[in-house]
Amino acid sequence: MALRNIVKTGDEVLLKPCRPVEKFDAKLGALLDDMAETMNAANGVGLAAPQVGILRRVVTIDVGEGLIELVNPVITKMSGKQEGQEGCLSFPGEWGIVERPMKVTVRAFDRHGDEFEMTGEGLLARAFCHEIDHLNGIVFTTRASHMLTPEELEQMNG
Ligand code: NI
Repeated sequence: MALRNIVKTGDEVLLKPCRPVEKFDAKLGALLDDMAETMNAANGVGLAAPQVGILRRVVTIDVGEGLIELVNPVITKMSGKQEGQEGCLSFPGEWGIVERPMKVTVRAFDRHGDEFEMTGEGLLARAFCHEIDHLNGIVFTTRASHMLTPEELEQMNG
């Protein structure tokens, strides 16, 4: 396993749509291992492959309930809504208010090519949406109703 460099805002790779994974091989396994390690080292709750410069539909998520690996994920169901603070490892120090569904079901493949479905609520639902947006070249700042100022950040988190 190895740490990969996290692409930061301003890099065009973050704005490009990703291609589906076609081969469930050792290279995919290595990418997923590296992404999980990179995400954990950066204290992130989610990472999408374009954030390490790979334009493939691959995501890792860990909201504190264990590692989730999603390959070629699609959202199959959404309900409710939540408004809250959201950030991104590619936008260090930047936070915005983003509305997302409260409950989200995704269908995806694991690293071996087996399909599964999973439902998440709250932060996990937010992470599903945020990371799948990345695969479509969409970054959270374009979804934010408002980006927080340093003063607002201090008030909210202080
Ligand atoms: Ni992100």
